[in-house]
Amino acid sequence: MNAKELIKTANSLVADAKGILAMDESFPTCNKRFAKLGIPQTEEARRTYRELIATTHGLGESISGAILFDETIRQRTNDGTPMIKVLINAGIIPGIKVDTGAKDMAGHPGEKISEGLDGLRERLIEYYQMGARFAKWRAVIAIGDSIPSQACSEANAQTLARYAALCQEAGLVPIVEPEVLMDGGHTMERCFEVTEEVLHTVFNQLYTQGVMLEGMILKPNMVLPGLTCPKQESADDIADATVKCFRRAVPAAVPGITFLSGGQSAELASARLNAMNVRFKSEIPWELSFSFGRAIQQPALEIWHGEEANVLKAQQALYHRAKCNFAARRGEYTDAMESPILS
Ligand code: 13P
Repeated sequence: MNAKELIKTANSLVADAKGILAMDESFPTCNKRFAKLGIPQTEEARRTYRELIATTHGLGESISGAILFDETIRQRTNDGTPMIKVLINAGIIPGIKVDTGAKDMAGHPGEKISEGLDGLRERLIEYYQMGARFAKWRAVIAIGDSIPSQACSEANAQTLARYAALCQEAGLVPIVEPEVLMDGGHTMERCFEVTEEVLHTVFNQLYTQGVMLEGMILKPNMVLPGLTCPKQESADDIADATVKCFRRAVPAAVPGITFLSGGQSAELASARLNAMNVRFKSEIPWELSFSFGRAIQQPALEIWHGEEANVLKAQQALYHRAKCNFAARRGEYTDAMESPILS
């Protein structure tokens, strides 16, 4: 393990108010989003879309790293440049999703365990040689009447920690992603309880497995009410609850917390991240940043719609969302930034 290199990469991913762009949707997820918009679910359509993202002019002004899917890291742009090289040339650190998906957990209806540890050491060596410098593993935790179970949080936490240790051995910074899902009618208080418990379990396992906290990034959910909960708290209340929860459970040695968006609208994700930085930036030990997928990409995907003629407008929308989140990192995001830019 090259501790110095890992620490440098981890810090670069959260430096200068920049954040991470998640563009690592697996085949089923990407195809589902394309199908909704009537975009063909082909390798070429996925390649074209990822090229649109990677070649967005000025993306590196607000994006420090981009997470790719295995298919994408092997693809080239129309002019034959490897996709990974396009990112590096834009000053963006390439990362790679390495879990192979969240599968139904035996004996635990409604719960999932993420897979992908078999053969991971060899895959990580190959990704490092290709130029990736960080990786991502997503575990999902659902909230329900009697879930999450201890079995689900412990199994996912241990898997995340084993993945993280393998990444550090290979020179890749692990992004550790325990996602407590927004689906359901649970309250923000319930999300707080579950998130705190999950984070304690994860950091316990990271410690047990010997993961160097200075050379990793945490990618969690914000503490939010469920999507169908009648009470939806303000951005300030969500910021307070989220930071309170993370202060209890995330060691100060971790350089950055990069939130996932998890199905929040792009505007709400920016507003909530902004509220956290306005209220707490000067008093917290870690950078509070973003590693959004949908909250950066969705408006651009809808504009693109699979049509070549829409590429430039879609890139403008992507650039705009990245800039909004860059502003939210500094506590400088305002509603005025959302006035129409594309008409
Ligand atoms: P969302 O921001 O769309 O939740 O995606 C982030 C991600 O990478 C999920 O693993």
